[in-house]
Amino acid sequence: MIKSVLITGANAGLGRECARQLAEYQQIKKIYLGCRNLHKAKEAQAELVSETGRNIFEVLLIDVADQQSVKEAVKTLNSPIDALVMNAGGTGGKEFYNKTPEGVTQIFAVNLLGHVLLTNELLKANKLTQAAIYAGSEAARGVKEMGMT
Ligand SMILES: NC(=O)c1ccc[n+]([C@@H]2O[C@H](COP(=O)([O-])OP(=O)(O)OC[C@H]3O[C@@H](n4cnc5c(N)ncnc54)[C@H](OP(=O)(O)O)[C@@H]3O)[C@@H](O)[C@H]2O)c1
Repeated sequence: MIKSVLITGANAGLGRECARQLAEYQQIKKIYLGCRNLHKAKEAQAELVSETGRNIFEVLLIDVADQQSVKEAVKTLNSPIDALVMNAGGTGGKEFYNKTPEGVTQIFAVNLLGHVLLTNELLKANKLTQAAIYAGSEAARGVKEMGMT
């Protein structure tokens, strides 16, 4: 049974809504909000507690595009999680095309590379027990109806 979940990019959009909906399940006892901005994370945490009536949200600072930050976040987790929702990212603005120290675009670093590293680090540390879910786009699979090659 899944009791604890880490959601990346949980302060806004689909990630925040995912946190809100998961809190409706009483079996879920802990939801880590994986966010890169402490102020936005705390704001989302307070709103989620008030909207759901459940004090089960904990902020985990993580910039998924920054490999050091990903490793630190895994070390910071004090108990294993049952499920990981890899949601942080988006198609973003111009800054998404800046290169990281690893030489890839920010968009690749956050949407893919950082999440691969996060999953690997969690598994290596025995801190992920059941499920890893990736929030991707149908467009990335070349769905014909979307006119993407
Ligand atoms: N919405 C759609 O129609 C759609 C369609 C296909 C796929 N998706 C995918 O679904 C996911 C969520 O989309 P959304 O529409 O909910 O996006 P959104 O509203 O823009 O929210 C993105 C979230 O990701 C966080 N984030 C961005 N870069 C980050 C980083 N380096 N480290 C940690 N957090 C980071 C943002 O934090 P800040 O507030 O700090 O920026 C924000 O919390 C994305 O991966 C997107 O590619 C969405």
